Amino acid sequence: MPFDPAVIRASFAVVERRADQLTKYFYAHLFTNNPGVEALFPARLAEQRDRLFAALTQLVLRLEDPGKLTGYLAALGRDHRKFRAAPEHYPAVGASLIAALKHFSGHSWTPEIEKAWTEVYTVVSQAMIDAAAAVPADTPRWWDAEVLEHRRAGPDLAVLTLRPDRPYGFTPGQYLTVCSDRQPQVWRPYSPARAPRPDHTLELHVRRVPDGLLSTALVDDVRPGETLRLGPPLGDAVLAPGSDRPLLMVAGGTGWAPVRALLEQLAQDGGRPTTVFVAARSDADQYDLDTVHTLIREHAWLHVVLSAPEAGASRAEAARLLRDGLAGYGDCSGHDVHVSGPPDLVPAVVAQLLDQDAEPDLVRHDPVTATFNRSRPLTPAEWFLEERDVPWINRTELG
Ligand SMILES: Cc1cc2nc3c(=O)[nH]c(=O)nc-3n(C[C@H](O)[C@H](O)[C@H](O)COP(=O)(O)OP(=O)(O)OC[C@H]3O[C@@H](n4cnc5c(N)ncnc54)[C@H](O)[C@@H]3O)c2cc1C
Ligand code: HEM
Repeated sequence: MPFDPAVIRASFAVVERRADQLTKYFYAHLFTNNPGVEALFPARLAEQRDRLFAALTQLVLRLEDPGKLTGYLAALGRDHRKFRAAPEHYPAVGASLIAALKHFSGHSWTPEIEKAWTEVYTVVSQAMIDAAAAVPADTPRWWDAEVLEHRRAGPDLAVLTLRPDRPYGFTPGQYLTVCSDRQPQVWRPYSPARAPRPDHTLELHVRRVPDGLLSTALVDDVRPGETLRLGPPLGDAVLAPGSDRPLLMVAGGTGWAPVRALLEQLAQDGGRPTTVFVAARSDADQYDLDTVHTLIREHAWLHVVLSAPEAGASRAEAARLLRDGLAGYGDCSGHDVHVSGPPDLVPAVVAQLLDQDAEPDLVRHDPVTATFNRSRPLTPAEWFLEERDVPWINRTELG
């Protein structure tokens, strides 16, 4: 590694608390100095400025683990084809990033720090450019997909069936990013809820988040016949190849989608002992129960626990029930573990399962995006305590 990660880390710590102003400055610098680049970005950047900083944080956290960084950057570079990012854009982004870091570092900025950031950016951007260039020419930047069906599965939840314009290859457990003309350039990740099907259709489960740009469009506005764009498949929370270990899966909310896809693949592979905890915040949030019942009827190897508190209980109770349910499961050693759900739930569940002797190398989940939006709940208890005043369903054990 040509640069010293410690120098980068120390310099990053100086600006971290000013993420909001730094990203604003970065975009202003980029767009002012590079006419035309603004059109590649979403219009309402002011409302989602933390995304860039979250990305930077991810990079800084991985600097000392070049192995993981390489895979991450290759996927990121390939994925940036969908933004129409071209090699000539990279130096411009780098110049604006360094200008912003310098501006907010004040007197602590030194030639040594500037050199370290320049070296990091050169390595990182070259890895992305090379990975994008290595994508076979016949691979599209994105797939156009027709919305075949749009079904409401709850007050803030929609199930979308999509037909891509050409076969879309992915592995159950992966996710993809989606963009709609209703929110130009706004790409968000969603997880296919079915294993690949012969007719190439995909199913997505989308929950509307308050003030969410894309989820609101997908749940409330999108209609059959419309076209969505799909980015290439991402993520490695897939079944461990060749494993015959028992499985423990925890799905919170629409985290059920990738778990359902994984269960379909397991069924195709012949099945093995699998316990799935499906956690919901309320009865309105509990969905796709017909599928759950069908799966447990058809597969003797599958045991499902639906976790939600007694009617009238506080929402903190929901967090406690899931925690207690998992604690009751006991020893997780020797298990393949899959966790999916809201960004605040996943780290808490993973921490608990590690305490229950789950093996870190066998625990899989999607990347949890860091956020600097302090209005967002920080702990599972707070997650469950979010607004909403609907009765809870009882905790139910199935299978
Ligand atoms: C790997 C991965 C897979 C995902 N799979 C699914 C899926 O299958 N189904 C699904 O419905 N969602 C899924 N998500 C979440 C999804 O990508 C979007 O974050 C979500 O739909 C909100 O996007 P938005 O544009 O509507 O909200 P934004 O406009 O980005 O955000 C609006 C507000 O909501 C907050 N917010 C953003 N995301 C969340 C969230 N997930 N929970 C709570 N608050 C949030 C923001 O901080 C902001 O305050 C997944 C996320 C990841 C990282
Ligand atoms: C080393 C350089 C770069 C890195 C590390 C980087 C990293 C990232 C990351 C991690 C995201 C968030 C992805 C997501 O949330 O799905 C992102 C979004 C984006 N990037 Fe880059 N990027 C780089 C260079 C570029 C360049 C050169 C362009 C083209 C001008 C570009 C255009 C975009 C766009 C348009 C978005 C979407 C913005 C948004 O949704 O907020 N990036 N980038």
